[in-house]
Amino acid sequence: MTKKIIAIWAQDEAGLIGRDNRLPWHLPKEWQHFKETTMHQALVMGRVTFDGMNRRLLPGRETLILSRQPDQIDTTGVTILSSPEAVLDWFKQQDKNLYVVGGASIYQAFAPYYDQLVVTRVAGEFAGDTHFPPFDWSAYRPIAEQTFAADEQNSHAFTVTTYERIKED
Ligand SMILES: NC(=O)c1ccc[n+]([C@@H]2O[C@H](COP(=O)([O-])OP(=O)(O)OC[C@H]3O[C@@H](n4cnc5c(N)ncnc54)[C@H](OP(=O)(O)O)[C@@H]3O)[C@@H](O)[C@H]2O)c1
Repeated sequence: MTKKIIAIWAQDEAGLIGRDNRLPWHLPKEWQHFKETTMHQALVMGRVTFDGMNRRLLPGRETLILSRQPDQIDTTGVTILSSPEAVLDWFKQQDKNLYVVGGASIYQAFAPYYDQLVVTRVAGEFAGDTHFPPFDWSAYRPIAEQTFAADEQNSHAFTVTTYERIKED
């Protein structure tokens, strides 16, 4: 199978993705979906999102951090790159899928390159400060969808939809 560049994110019904550098919701089932989907693959995230995770590594996944000031990050076990082009060069030289995991500025920077999108839509509207950037959906079509009900641990229902880029003839 050919390796892919895949955007993965969770948003509410208004496109909100973040609040105070964290997720606006607490949905362990959604986090589990993220973990299973990205396990053993590579991730690229922005420095602000990495800070929001207290610069902790996600086990089992190769992590790239994008920053214009790479010297400010001294976490071991991550690859720090200073431009999207450097990330794309890195991608070409290895075999893993690359999951673009946010935040907003990183989703925007890689928008021309997505082979697939994995989008969680959380039912409801939350308070927050960061939205998914404007996006041209016309090049993508849905290929799979799964809905998860709210339960005792997960306050809101959510639906995960996978899209693939429509191939040009
Ligand atoms: N719901 C979701 O699925 C999801 C996923 C991820 C994140 N989020 C949320 O998104 C929010 C953060 O998003 P954000 O846009 O503020 O920050 P971000 O994208 O996480 O990080 C921004 C930083 O990335 C670096 N960067 C961005 N573009 C770059 C480029 N072209 N070249 C080199 N470095 C570049 C810069 O780091 P330096 O300042 O170090 O130069 C910039 O300050 C948080 O609230 C987070 O919780 C939500």
